[in-house]
Amino acid sequence: MTSIPATMTAIGIASPGGPEMLVPQERPVPQPGVGEILVKVAAAGVNRPDVIQRKGLYPPPPGVTDIPGLEIAGTVVACGPGVGRWRDGDEVTALVSGGGYAQYCIAHESHALPIPRGLTAAESAAVPETFLTVWHNVFERGGLRAGETLLVHGGSSGIGTVAIQLAKAFGARVVTTAGSAEKCDACRRLGADVAVNYRTEDFVPLTKGATGGAGADVILDMVGGDYIERNYEAAAVEGRIVQIAFQGSPRANVDFRRIMLKRLHHTGSTLRSRSVADKAAIALAVERNAWPLIAAGTVRPVMDKIFPYRNAADAHVRMESGVHIGKIVLEM
Ligand SMILES: NC(=O)c1ccc[n+]([C@@H]2O[C@H](COP(=O)([O-])OP(=O)(O)OC[C@H]3O[C@@H](n4cnc5c(N)ncnc54)[C@H](OP(=O)(O)O)[C@@H]3O)[C@@H](O)[C@H]2O)c1
Repeated sequence: MTSIPATMTAIGIASPGGPEMLVPQERPVPQPGVGEILVKVAAAGVNRPDVIQRKGLYPPPPGVTDIPGLEIAGTVVACGPGVGRWRDGDEVTALVSGGGYAQYCIAHESHALPIPRGLTAAESAAVPETFLTVWHNVFERGGLRAGETLLVHGGSSGIGTVAIQLAKAFGARVVTTAGSAEKCDACRRLGADVAVNYRTEDFVPLTKGATGGAGADVILDMVGGDYIERNYEAAAVEGRIVQIAFQGSPRANVDFRRIMLKRLHHTGSTLRSRSVADKAAIALAVERNAWPLIAAGTVRPVMDKIFPYRNAADAHVRMESGVHIGKIVLEM
């Protein structure tokens, strides 16, 4: 039996604001409830939504801890009533609704998966948020199929690096956008067929050019604003556009006639607010479809930098600087 202390160190948000608001705090170790496991955290992924939460613009859902952190890897140290899959000592990676920036964190048992074969704890912690988001939005919502073209904006982001690799692994062609020549090179090394430096080039004609004029079948967009109308232009007939964020504006002045003329579908989703059952179903699909690819070395999380968790503020500075390629991770 692992002895579990009463208190732990977590990284709290002192008050909404800059990275310096992320400070180590003494907190009670949470108790797993029905269907939940307590994980001794080895590493936690850093995601853009954590930055937005730190600024006070993305409050945790009701009943969820205010400690940031949406994904973890570590060891199960206690199981709540009704847990069937896991036992103390199991090594898991898990999607969590919050609380990842801490020595101990609660996960629903159905949102935990075994550490993928061949990955370190830090690499494993970089998997759940991006793989579940990409799987659900590109494949389940966007319905990407082999032989189709995916346009993914922000190809060098945590999300983008996974979208490129998974789309290629499933036989799609990939066009992507990124903000520098270095980032475009990184996207090509991951398999992107075309990488567009959005600061100097227009992705609409380049997407058309890469598809014989047809356009992209699926577009994964995290930008919004004027990209919405340009996505409609870059989309193929019957194209599916999936919105996962608005790094630009959530408002746009759009000519919607293209939706009729091209029979487009524009949808979107956000993972954190989904029901326990929804997230469990996505996690299961990811385990079935992506875990074998990770074990085979076909797909891997792209690691940018690992920080000690007490330096979470530095990790957020790096993410906000936009220099990173792939995932930033905290190690306990
Ligand atoms: N809906 C969901 O369920 C869900 C789940 C997880 C994450 N997300 C969202 O997905 C996005 C990526 O998350 P992440 O954690 O991977 O963050 P990240 O690594 O910081 O990614 C942000 C990316 O956005 C790109 N970007 C910004 N402006 C752009 C533009 N005008 N054109 C093309 N790309 C642009 C940046 O590219 P450059 O640096 O090259 O400018 C960067 O690669 C975030 O907005 C996040 O909130 C949504």
